[in-house]
Amino acid sequence: MTTPTAAAARKAATDIEALADALQARGDLTDPRIREALHAAPRHLFAPARGWCAPDGPGPRRVVDERTDPAGWWTAVYSDASIVTQVDDGAGDPAGGTGEATSSLSSPGAVTAFLELLAIRPGDRVLEIGTGTGWTAALMTALGADVTTIEVDPALAEQAAERLDRHGYGVEVLAQDGAAGAPGRGPFDAVHVTCGVTRVPYAWVEQTRPGGRIVAPWMPEWGDGHKLHLTVTADGDASGRLAGGASYMMLRSQRTAFHVPDGGAGVRETGTRLDPRQVAFGSYGADAAIAGLLPDVMGVPRDRDGFELELADVAGTSWARCRQSGTGEHRVLQAGPRDLWDDVADAYQRWTDWGRPDRERFGMTVGPYTQMLWLDDPANLLTA
Ligand SMILES: C[S@@+](CC[C@H](N)C(=O)[O-])C[C@H]1O[C@@H](n2cnc3c(N)ncnc32)[C@H](O)[C@@H]1O
Repeated sequence: MTTPTAAAARKAATDIEALADALQARGDLTDPRIREALHAAPRHLFAPARGWCAPDGPGPRRVVDERTDPAGWWTAVYSDASIVTQVDDGAGDPAGGTGEATSSLSSPGAVTAFLELLAIRPGDRVLEIGTGTGWTAALMTALGADVTTIEVDPALAEQAAERLDRHGYGVEVLAQDGAAGAPGRGPFDAVHVTCGVTRVPYAWVEQTRPGGRIVAPWMPEWGDGHKLHLTVTADGDASGRLAGGASYMMLRSQRTAFHVPDGGAGVRETGTRLDPRQVAFGSYGADAAIAGLLPDVMGVPRDRDGFELELADVAGTSWARCRQSGTGEHRVLQAGPRDLWDDVADAYQRWTDWGRPDRERFGMTVGPYTQMLWLDDPANLLTA
């Protein structure tokens, strides 16, 4: 007779295979070793008993609760959805569906796609920034890595350390700010960043051996996020290309808020034939170009009885609004020392002049004091 435990293990194995097949079909999983790791570090061991399920794709966002709806909880765990485990740095209800998500069990597709880029080899020393639940760290251990992981939130770090220990994954968990890396513990063969960054802290480059890899969600002020895949060079830089989309919660010290300064004094009104919707949603390549050329400019699409693209700089000195019109001549308002719409329109025009390159043709080089984007070749830097 099959014991309940054996039956549960069989069900987990079947559901992990089905999930892995779906990820493979989408191109997020090709390496059979990562498929094996999904079995060696089953996701349900790291899922919160209660949280907010956010599918990576279609499907409703919803509360998941193992106690009141174990079947629904299990389905969420073995689907391509992230599960929010903390909001507002612990101040709110993670299953409430409100507040700013500040920690989660990342979605399987995002996790396997980053692990593919990281290409862990047995024996690699890997530093993870953003422990969260500890699932990614466990997967990397299953891939044969010697993992050190850093979590800025002490309560989350303690829970993850206890969970990893209980299930027999030998991972060192540090409760500290990962922006500084793990001084004195490098060099690492690879750094896996699982929170978003606008700027890659140079400490991560310094603590990675030449030839080592860094993968991170690059979440610039402009547009959607991008997977970043860097290799550390012998002269101490890190360079590499963008590799598809990414959406993660930010490194704590790099959170910014969109802020339009008060007051309408000095507002300048002009017009443009460049469609603001095209600028906002036209292409991830345009996103990358604008983010590289204007690293401190943010854009937020708004629906105010019609489409409007609102812009502001991080310092909060300037703002602009471009309102879409059916006539093809769109109204622009700009205020502050910078003409932000003109700057964004120029950047968009340069991207058009380059032949509208896709996001994957862009790359980044990180040095001790600089972070520069390039097109096709590290020598071909994007300069304002
Ligand atoms: C998306 S979650 C990570 C998911 C996790 N890797 C997993 O497998 O469940 C991002 C995590 O980064 C953490 N974080 C944010 N800023 C950090 C920092 N400066 N240093 C270390 N961790 C940070 C957050 O607290 C959060 O737990």
